[in-house]
Amino acid sequence: MAKGKSSEDSGLSEAQIAVHWKEEGYVYPSAQFIAQANMTDPAIFERFSLDNFPECFKEYADLLSWYDYWHTTLDTSDAPCWKWFVGGKINASYNCIDRHLKKHKNKAAIHFVPEPEDEAPAVITYQELYVRVNEFAALLRDFAKLKKGDRVTLHMPMTPELPVTMLACARLGIIHSEVFGGFSGQSCADRIVDSGSHVLITIDSYYRNGKLIDHKVNADIAVKTAQEKGQKVDKVLVWQRYPGQYHSKSEPVKGRDFIVNDVLKKYRDARVEPVKMPAEDPLFLMYTSGTTGKPKGCQHSTGGYLAYVAGTSKYVQDIHPEDVYWCMADIGWITGHSYIVYGPLALAASSVIYEGVPTYPDAGRPWRIAERLDVNIFHTAPTTIRMLRKAGPDEPQKYNYHFKHMTTVGEPIEPEVWRWYHKVVGKGEAIIVDTWWQTETGGFLCSTLPALQPMKPGSAGPAVPGIHPVIYDDERKELGAGAGKAGNICIRNPWPGAFQTIWGDRDRYVSTYYARYCKNKKSKDWRDWPYLTGDGALLAEDGYYRILGRLDDVINVAGHRLGTKELESAALTVPEIAEAAVVPVVDDLKGRVPDIYVSLKPGVKSGNDAQAKVTKAIEQEIGKIARPKNVYVVPDMPKTRSGKIMRRVLAAISNTLDIGDVMTLANPDVVEEIRVLVQGKKKVATKKGPEDIARFGDDG
Ligand code: PRX
Repeated sequence: MAKGKSSEDSGLSEAQIAVHWKEEGYVYPSAQFIAQANMTDPAIFERFSLDNFPECFKEYADLLSWYDYWHTTLDTSDAPCWKWFVGGKINASYNCIDRHLKKHKNKAAIHFVPEPEDEAPAVITYQELYVRVNEFAALLRDFAKLKKGDRVTLHMPMTPELPVTMLACARLGIIHSEVFGGFSGQSCADRIVDSGSHVLITIDSYYRNGKLIDHKVNADIAVKTAQEKGQKVDKVLVWQRYPGQYHSKSEPVKGRDFIVNDVLKKYRDARVEPVKMPAEDPLFLMYTSGTTGKPKGCQHSTGGYLAYVAGTSKYVQDIHPEDVYWCMADIGWITGHSYIVYGPLALAASSVIYEGVPTYPDAGRPWRIAERLDVNIFHTAPTTIRMLRKAGPDEPQKYNYHFKHMTTVGEPIEPEVWRWYHKVVGKGEAIIVDTWWQTETGGFLCSTLPALQPMKPGSAGPAVPGIHPVIYDDERKELGAGAGKAGNICIRNPWPGAFQTIWGDRDRYVSTYYARYCKNKKSKDWRDWPYLTGDGALLAEDGYYRILGRLDDVINVAGHRLGTKELESAALTVPEIAEAAVVPVVDDLKGRVPDIYVSLKPGVKSGNDAQAKVTKAIEQEIGKIARPKNVYVVPDMPKTRSGKIMRRVLAAISNTLDIGDVMTLANPDVVEEIRVLVQGKKKVATKKGPEDIARFGDDG
């Protein structure tokens, strides 16, 4: 690490990095789309200008129903922990359900599409959602004894029980912390411990890739591991994928595990008054990877978050109540929280939840779903688009669906992939928004406003209303429009969707996100606290941002963040391993995948099954999504004289890039040894790679 930087800082290795790419031309929205759009008034940008900050965000908060209106729009007295809509009282469950009943009680809130195609999609109306959420809230309160402010960990896949659980928690002010269903029991345990949850909510099983997966077994590992780490889980509430049937090898533990569908019988017809929550009380935690080993619990607020996701769902997603909206992300990530559950339901939309993988049983599946449900807004990640394009480039045209609007999120999208999405998936009719944002930001930061700004393939677009980005180089100099150089993209101002802090670790919150460009650490003025996103970006002359990827030790695998330290510490749980270093490798489908280099402890013979053990340890500690592409056993790591592992050199080797000068290393000879091990004898290096890889780990 360079002197004067905190360990969590993202760093540009060179002060200014020139980036060359072919600027794409504009693609314009159709008149038909514009005619129906929620936002066609260009004055919105004026209304959300910094001159009108922070009061402009009243416009989003007014999309919601408040018990008490707030007295202070933005309170900065505890900078940089911003408080929005202070004095306001609100309930997220009420806003996503109860208030819609009068007009929309018989409308589909959720379409659940099970993975097995012979199982018909199920519709949950707003009335039915109301009933289920109330009954489960009664169970949480009276049976699980949970109350406002308690944390509860959810480890649930994509079935309707997940939003029911989230909204039942929200009804009572219980802070839910959902762990992505594909994460391992150990990962879940870490999040149980960090959040201090006494209750775990899970499901017996779910479908994925044609198999009914036994999920409850993870709960046993999670509870046991959490207990070893000092956090006792008193109750495990187990939903059933098929109510009345239990599909798991793991027998329910008496007195600890309870089958939700059995207990719920006691709460038939129960109604639970929504708790009037102070706007700034937390709604949920969402853990995400950082540059140190421990995932951080991003704490999101009730009023500010809900206002922001409602506003952006309306104007960027362009959701109207009559739309059938399908976001194919997993609710276990922030995209699902904001843009499957809270945003769309706050607007009384019909939100589709699909249980399985997009290419099962074949690449026509998503388009059959779209046809059957008459989906008109579609939302997914570049990884999925690449996958569907590879597996079935001509599939979409076989199906009779028509999207008016499509979203991409999570990683940069290559222009040629964008064009396939537009022309083939969108049939040339749909507009695309490339939305750039993060777990921490709650909602979109950059995107085109669909009826107002043309699209540009490969660029996220300008900032959305009320977001004012700035790109700084290492010397805090602003890199303006058309500078042709990339830098650290920051946001100048707070916004209501931003997370409030890292759960239980304010210092880490401040040092990771605000210390780098803070102008005055004592200041209570938001202008002194630009938010550091950790991404590299470039601003074109027309004000469109191109996001280049992470500048810190985070790898974006298929749109999911993995911290290299997390992977490395999982590898180090294998007793034979002395050192481990993880680097990103370019992958045609997933964007980036991890390669892991390990060295063995003295006396351990190579050729034992160290590689398999490392892969297994990573799957166990984190989950299958983190599985490395390659595990290389190397004689030693390339190191600086001060002993720092040069991950950049390993990244260059994994990606067959120019390795550069290594003579200043403590052990330069090992570099060629490793290169031959990975690439073979012949030298094939190309000169320059993508920015995030060329500079990976090179922070000083
Ligand atoms: O590097 C950026 C990338 O994903 C990171 C955030 O990951 P996560 O917190 O898991 O949230 C993903 C869903 C919002 C960012 O720091 N990223 C996200 N969206 C884009 C993107 N990179 C390029 N273009 C995007 N549209």
